[in-house]
Amino acid sequence: MVSGRRRLLLLLFVLCAAAGPRTAFSNTNPQDAAALRSLMTKWKNLPSSWGKSNDPCGTKWDGIFCDANGRVTSLNLFGLNIRGTLGDDIGSLTELRVLDLSSNRDLGGPLPASLGKLVKLEYLVLIGCSFSGPVPSELGRLSQLVFFALNSNKLTGSIPPSLGNLSQVTWLDLADNQLTGPLPNSRDHGNGLDQLLKAEHFHLNQNMLEGSVPEYLFNSSMKLKHILFDRNNFTGPIPASIGVIPTLQVLRLNNNGFVGEVPSLSNLTRLQVLMLSNNKLSGSIPDLTGMISLENVDISNNSFTPSNVPSWFSNLTNITTLTMQSVGIYGQVPQKLFSFPELQNLILSDNQLNGTLDMGNNINNGLDLVDIQNNKITSVTVYGSFKGQFLKLQGNPLCNDSLLSGTMPCMGLQTEAPQPTFDVQCANPFIETIVFRAPSFGDVANYLYKLQTDLASKLGSCTPNHLGLIPYSNDEAYLNVDIKACPVNQKRFNYSQVLNCFNLTLQTYKPPEMFGPYYVKAHPYAFHDKTSRAVLIGIVTGSVLLVVGLMLLGFYALRQKKRAQKLVSINNPFASWGSMGEDIGEAPKLKSSRFFTLEELKLCTNDFREINAIGAGGYGRVYRGKLPDGQLIAIKRSKEGSMQGGLEFKTEIELLSRVHHKNLVGLVGFCFEKGEKMLVYEFIPNGTLSEALYGMRGIQLDWSRRLKIALDSARGLAYLHDHANPPIIHRDVKSTNILLDEKLTAKVADFGLSLLVSDSEEGQLCTNVKGTLGYLDPEYYMTQQLTAKSDVYSFGVVLLELIMAKPPIHENKYIVREVKMALDMDDRTNCGLKDVMDPVLQKMGGLVGFQRFLKLALQCVEEVGTDRPSMNSIVREIELIMQDNGLTPGSMSASSSFSIESRTMKVVPKLPYSSASTSSTAFDMNSRAFEYSGVFPSSHGSLKP
Ligand SMILES: *[C@@H]1O[C@H](CO)[C@@H](O)[C@H](O)[C@H]1NC(C)=O
Ligand SMILES: *[C@@H]1O[C@H](CO)[C@@H](O)[C@H](O)[C@H]1NC(C)=O
Ligand SMILES: *[C@@H]1O[C@H](CO)[C@@H](O)[C@H](O)[C@H]1NC(C)=O
Ligand SMILES: *[C@@H]1O[C@H](CO)[C@@H](O)[C@H](O)[C@H]1NC(C)=O
Ligand SMILES: *[C@@H]1O[C@H](CO)[C@@H](O)[C@H](O)[C@H]1NC(C)=O
Repeated sequence: MVSGRRRLLLLLFVLCAAAGPRTAFSNTNPQDAAALRSLMTKWKNLPSSWGKSNDPCGTKWDGIFCDANGRVTSLNLFGLNIRGTLGDDIGSLTELRVLDLSSNRDLGGPLPASLGKLVKLEYLVLIGCSFSGPVPSELGRLSQLVFFALNSNKLTGSIPPSLGNLSQVTWLDLADNQLTGPLPNSRDHGNGLDQLLKAEHFHLNQNMLEGSVPEYLFNSSMKLKHILFDRNNFTGPIPASIGVIPTLQVLRLNNNGFVGEVPSLSNLTRLQVLMLSNNKLSGSIPDLTGMISLENVDISNNSFTPSNVPSWFSNLTNITTLTMQSVGIYGQVPQKLFSFPELQNLILSDNQLNGTLDMGNNINNGLDLVDIQNNKITSVTVYGSFKGQFLKLQGNPLCNDSLLSGTMPCMGLQTEAPQPTFDVQCANPFIETIVFRAPSFGDVANYLYKLQTDLASKLGSCTPNHLGLIPYSNDEAYLNVDIKACPVNQKRFNYSQVLNCFNLTLQTYKPPEMFGPYYVKAHPYAFHDKTSRAVLIGIVTGSVLLVVGLMLLGFYALRQKKRAQKLVSINNPFASWGSMGEDIGEAPKLKSSRFFTLEELKLCTNDFREINAIGAGGYGRVYRGKLPDGQLIAIKRSKEGSMQGGLEFKTEIELLSRVHHKNLVGLVGFCFEKGEKMLVYEFIPNGTLSEALYGMRGIQLDWSRRLKIALDSARGLAYLHDHANPPIIHRDVKSTNILLDEKLTAKVADFGLSLLVSDSEEGQLCTNVKGTLGYLDPEYYMTQQLTAKSDVYSFGVVLLELIMAKPPIHENKYIVREVKMALDMDDRTNCGLKDVMDPVLQKMGGLVGFQRFLKLALQCVEEVGTDRPSMNSIVREIELIMQDNGLTPGSMSASSSFSIESRTMKVVPKLPYSSASTSSTAFDMNSRAFEYSGVFPSSHGSLKP
C-alpha cells in the first residue's frame, strides 16, 4: 500500500498544483461540464459552489480537480451529505483518476455500467453509501485501478469474475454488503481473484458469499497482507495454499462454515492476527508452532478433537489476546503464558482444563482478563501481585466450595475498568467512525493514547488540540472509534476542510501498526444552519455523543490541563499553590511530608496508565508508583469535583502530615496543581484485610495472625482517637481500609480522608452521615452525632468479619444479627458459631481466647455508644488475649514468625488443613506464595502433599 499511497499523494499534489492558477485555464471541457451538470440534476445537498457557473474547473466547484486541459481528473465528495443516485453521465468524465463519493449515506441506487468507461481511474472509492444492485461486470475494464473499495453499501449478486482483470489492484474491498455466490476464480469462471497478483488486501468480510475457497485462489507469488473473509457463508476446507503466502499479517476466516482440518500455517511467520472461530473445523487443534508474530488468536467454537493443552502455548511470546473457548482442551494451563509481556486477555472458557491453576509469581502487569469459566479447575494459586477482579472462574469445581463461591472470581463480579476516552465538547464537531477490522490487541485501553497522538499529528492542522476519540464497541473483534474534531476559531467546518482534512478513505493515514486495517465512515455533518434533515441528524448524533461523552470520564480535558501544567515552573514546588484562583492562603506547613509536582507523579506512574491503577472509588482512582529512590507509593488521585476546595485540602494535608504511627498508613506527600488533588501514601504490598480474608491474596490467616491484625488496627485507631491533635475520627473503618504490609502488620488507611471527600462518594449515604453500609454505627445514623464510638462500632464489625470471613452484609444477612442469633456462650469451643464462622479457622483449632474475643466484638457493636469500650480498652483486651495465646503483643518485630523472609518463588507444600496447626511451623512462610488450596479444599480431594 505504501507505493500506492505515495502515488496518490503525488497525484493529488499534481492535481492541486494544476488547480492552483485557475484563471490560466478557465474553460472546463464542455463534455465534462455537461456531465457534471447532468450528475447534479440527480443530487441534492450539494455544496453551494456547485452550479454557480458553467465552469467547474475555473470557478472551483468543491471537490473537483481538473488538469491543464480543463478535464476533470478527480471528483471527491466525501461526507457532504449528498442525496440521490449516480447518473450514467459519470461515464463521460473519461479523464477521471479519482472518484470518491464515500460517506454519503443517502447516495444510492444502482452502480451505472458506464463506470466501466473511466479507464484511467486509479481510485474508485464508494464507501458507506447506499448503492444497491449488482457490481457491474464492466468495472473489470478499469485496468489502471489500484484502489477499489465498495464496502458498506447494499450491493447484491455475486462478485463478477471480470474483476480478475484489475491487475493493478492492491486494495480490494467489497466488505459489508449483501453479496452472494462463490469467489470467482480463473479455472471455474474464466477470470478470478487468483489473478490479482498485486493485491495486498482482500476484504470480503460481512457478506453472504458461499461455496468453498479453491486451493488455487492463493499462491506464493501473491503479496497479500490481509485476508478478511469472516462473517460469510463459506464452506469446505481451508485451502492449504493460504499457508504459503509469506507476506500475510491478518487472516480472518471466522464465522463461516469451514470444515475439516486446519492446514499447516507454520510458515506464516509474519501473521499477527489469526481468527478461525465459529466454524466447523475438526481434527486436531491447529499447530501454531513457529508463528512467532501472533498477537491476537481466536480459534473458539470449533469441533476439534479433544487434546491436551497444546505445547505451542508456551511459545506465543508476543501474544496479547488468546481466545480458545470451547475447543476441547484439557490439562494444566502453562504458567509461562501469564508472564508474556504483552498478554492482556486470556479466554479459555468452556473447556476441560483441570488440576491447579497456577499463574506463577511473574504475572504480566497488563493482564486484565483471565476467563477460565466452566472448566474443571479444582484449585488455584494466586500470588500477591495479581488483581483478582480480572479472574473469572465460575463453573469450576473449586467454586462449589461454600467460601470460594462468594469471592469475586466465582461470582463474576468484575470491576470493569472505565473505558478510556478523549472527549471534546463543541457545538459543531465533525465526527467520523474509524473501524479497525483486525486489531492485534483485545483491549484498546493501552493504545488509545497512542492513536490519539498519532491522529492528532495527522489532523492537527485542521483541528489543533481539539480532537476527541471515543471507542464504543468491539463486536466480532472489530473496533469502532469515533473521531470527533472541533473547529477552531470558526463555528463549523466548511466543505473544503472536510474534504481535505477528514477524508481518510484513501488510506492516506497510517495508524500505529497494532490497529491493523481500517476504513472510515463520516457521520452526516451540518454544514449550514438551516434545519435540513441532515442538520437534524447531525444534532441527534451530536447529542447522543454528548451524552455518551458526559457519561465517560473527561480524560481528554485532564490531559490538556496536564499539558498546560508542564509549563509551570517546577523549581519552586509551591509556585502553583493557590493558582486555582481561590484564596487559600500560604502554602501549607508540612511536617515530614513533601510536595510532589504533577510531572514527578506522572513519571513514576507512567503517566497514570491504567495498568498502574490498583483501586478505584467515588473519589477517583489509586495508582501504584515508584519514586526515583525506589520507594513504592500509592497515589490517590481525586476525580474532579469529588473533593472539597483548596482550603480544605490544605487543612487536611497539614493535619495528616502530622499523624505518624506504625499502624497507620503514612502520608508521603501530596500534589496540588491546577485542579489536580493527589495524596501520596506509602505503598502497602499485601493488599487489604478483606482481600486476605476472602482468599484474594493467597495469604493464610490463622488465629494468631488474626489477633495480631485486630491488635494492630486497634492501636492505629486508638492513636487517632487519643493521641492525634486534634483527635481524628476515622468515620470509615472497614476491612478494605485495613492494609497489610510485607510482614502482615496491619495499617489503617484513609483516616481523615472522609473529611476531604464530598458526599458523592459511593457506598455512602447521601445524608451528612458518612460511612459504609454494613459498618455504619446505627446510633450515628439516627442521631447524626459523630463520636469516637462510631469508629468502635465499625471496628466491632471488622472483628466479627475476622471470625466469619464474610462481608458484613452477605446473602441478605447482616453479620451482627447473624452472630447474635447463633450465639451460645455455653459452647466452649466456638460459642455456637460452628455453622456460621470461617471453616478455615474452625479446622485450624486451638482458638485460645476465642470466647473473649467474641465478647469484645459484641461489646463494640452495642446499640448505645456509651456501652461500647474505648479503642484504648480494646487494645488492652486484645493484648491480654494474645498473651493467653503465648504471643508477645508488645513488640512488633519480636515475632519473627510473622515475617516473610524470602522473595523467591517457592510454593508451599499443599497441605490439607487438618495438618495445619497453630504451632510455630505454621508461621514459617519462607515464600510469598500460598496455595488457595490450603485454604479452600478441593472438592476432588486431589491436594495431597
Ligand atoms: C449458509 O449456507 C447454508 C447451507 O448452504 C444455508 O442453509 C444457510 O441458509 C446459509 N446462510 C446464509 C446466511 O446465507
Ligand atoms: C514451509 O517452508 C519451507 C521452506 O520454504 C518448506 O520446505 C515447507 O514445505 C513449508 N511448509 C509448508 C507447510 O508449506
Ligand atoms: C514481538 O514484539 C516486540 C515488541 O513489540 C517486537 O519488537 C518483536 O519484533 C515482536 N516479535 C515478533 C517475532 O514479531
Ligand atoms: C517453544 O518453547 C520451548 C520452551 O519454552 C522451547 O524449548 C522450544 O524450542 C520452543 N519452540 C519454538 C518453535 O520456538
Ligand atoms: C486432567 O484430565 C485428564 C483427562 O481427563 C487426565 O488424564 C489428567 O489426569 C487430569 N489431570 C489432573 C491433574 O486432574
